[in-house]
Amino acid sequence: MFGLGVFAFSLCLLASGTPLSDNRKVLARRDTPPAGYTLTRPASPDTLLKLRIALVQSNPAGLEEALYDVSTPTSPNYGQFLTKDEAASYVAPSPETQTVINAWLEQNDISATALTPAGDWLGFQIPVGKANELFDAAYSVYTHEGAGKETIRTLSYSIPQELEGHLSVVYPTTTYLPTFSASYSFPKSLGQADDATVNPSCINTITLSCLQALYGIPTTPATEKSSRIAVAGFDDQWANEADLMTFLKTYRPDMSDTTTFTLQDLDGGSNNQTPADAGVEANLDIQYTVGIATDVPTLFVSAGYDNHDGDLDGFLDMADLLLNEDSPPQAFTTSYGPNEDDVPIGLSYNLCNAYAQLGARGVSVLFASGDGGVSGTQSSNCTEFVVPFPDGCPFMTNVGSTTGISPEIGAFFSSGGFSNYYARPSYQDAAVTAYFNYLGDTYQGLYNASGRAFPDVATQGINFTVVIDQEFYAVSGTSCSSPTFASVVALLNNELISAGKSPLGFLNPWLYSTASTAFNDITEGNNPGCGTDGFYAIAGWDPVTGWGTPDYAKLKTAAGL
Ligand SMILES: *[C@@H]1O[C@H](CO)[C@@H](O)[C@H](O)[C@H]1NC(C)=O
Ligand SMILES: *[C@@H]1O[C@H](CO)[C@@H](O)[C@H](O)[C@H]1NC(C)=O
Ligand SMILES: *[C@@H]1O[C@H](CO)[C@@H](O)[C@H](O)[C@H]1NC(C)=O
Repeated sequence: MFGLGVFAFSLCLLASGTPLSDNRKVLARRDTPPAGYTLTRPASPDTLLKLRIALVQSNPAGLEEALYDVSTPTSPNYGQFLTKDEAASYVAPSPETQTVINAWLEQNDISATALTPAGDWLGFQIPVGKANELFDAAYSVYTHEGAGKETIRTLSYSIPQELEGHLSVVYPTTTYLPTFSASYSFPKSLGQADDATVNPSCINTITLSCLQALYGIPTTPATEKSSRIAVAGFDDQWANEADLMTFLKTYRPDMSDTTTFTLQDLDGGSNNQTPADAGVEANLDIQYTVGIATDVPTLFVSAGYDNHDGDLDGFLDMADLLLNEDSPPQAFTTSYGPNEDDVPIGLSYNLCNAYAQLGARGVSVLFASGDGGVSGTQSSNCTEFVVPFPDGCPFMTNVGSTTGISPEIGAFFSSGGFSNYYARPSYQDAAVTAYFNYLGDTYQGLYNASGRAFPDVATQGINFTVVIDQEFYAVSGTSCSSPTFASVVALLNNELISAGKSPLGFLNPWLYSTASTAFNDITEGNNPGCGTDGFYAIAGWDPVTGWGTPDYAKLKTAAGL
């Protein structure tokens, strides 16, 4: 990268003509681009850059405290969820930050737009030359060798001293996000719609009736229209209505086969109904939510590519869309993600705090834990365990996978481990300490023992039958598990609301206390990766299956029903 240093120097001179002050705070610096990217050429100074800046949030500690106050079963305020404005007030920048940032924007002739309800995330467009000057950067064109895709990034950037403590992240700068991928393995064809048979043994394939029988999930229709479930869609993954109808006809003959979902789109998203364009992930997610959460109003939230969240691929935009509602859906499931170290830590904190706000508003945020065992979202060659994203965020619930009926064991791909970005929250202390007592010093140095541990819970995740373009397939992955667990939560919420009680909201403080024994404890199976056997499931919590798989009757009792 010798050449790049020289090049950066000349660019700065060209751009500003005045020496940059020494009193600058470097916010990020790397020596080389990530593997796979090569420097192609300097970015033209006239090229317009779409920049995002994150302002320092006024009171993230207060948000965390408020979240635990309404989510901890022993708290007097348990279930007393915050309003939209109350939750937003914690992440809104302080008046001082707003004044400092506005003065800086004005001084530099920049007009910015607020991208979130709380105004902690701003967007604007400026030419590369001006961005280089403002951030002491050297924006250049990098090419991804595999994808042949060009992207404009810089190896370092800094901000003037007066912005320190007010501006936390500029994007894009030094990180190169890959596209967030869905968590399922390539489907195996099972045949045409008319040949589909329900295998009652649940040995080779899992259908709705298997999950209902295994976990005691009721088939009675939900009664409360105010209890809703939202299913995230990204990456042109479209949920097909005709496929859902065939799926319900086959596996829920007791339900109306016209039961469907509603669409909410953002960032230019859509839900194309061309049969051949049905997405495996979207169909899986919708078929198992509509199919298990009987008559719970289901929302398919489809994000396009016109994202406002700085290459978080619409994750933050989607959280903000839900936060903008006065009564957001109480269960929200996502089966997509990259790895933690691919996401800039500042962006990661902002997104995690958006999930904290959702939790404080009474929403259970659920994610598939990832399909690479201890090697990340997907199987990879690694020398240290890889953490999928946003599994490390302590304010949401990660769902891993199991397989087999008797015994039910951890699925080999079920991602689990310990975050490098987020410290272990205290609700996990006892559970994780017990696991470390078993683990001893095995794998020391391969994982971060002080990090947030995951997953929290699990469900079956291998050979789920789905209908795609009117044919039956078997799909595997933690993508099967998050919609399944989210549907269980939605049914419990329906019963709670019907009994005049609050929905469950952020689950973890409850999962790690009152509800920890309301699971089928999974004590076998491991999640290999990085040339190791991975972690082993044991009695109690473990980083393969969390507390285990749901026992609906026990969960009802734990929820006070
Ligand atoms: C999944 O299905 C394949 C056949 O498509 C079968 O070979 C395999 O044993 C099944 N796995 C489980 C765990 O049922
Ligand atoms: C890991 O490396 C080996 C040898 O280079 C290669 O054959 C294999 O495909 C790699 N696996 C993954 C998941 O990248
Ligand atoms: C381990 O986790 C802690 C707590 O989140 C963090 O402060 C530390 O930087 C992490 N260490 C590494 C090597 O990532």
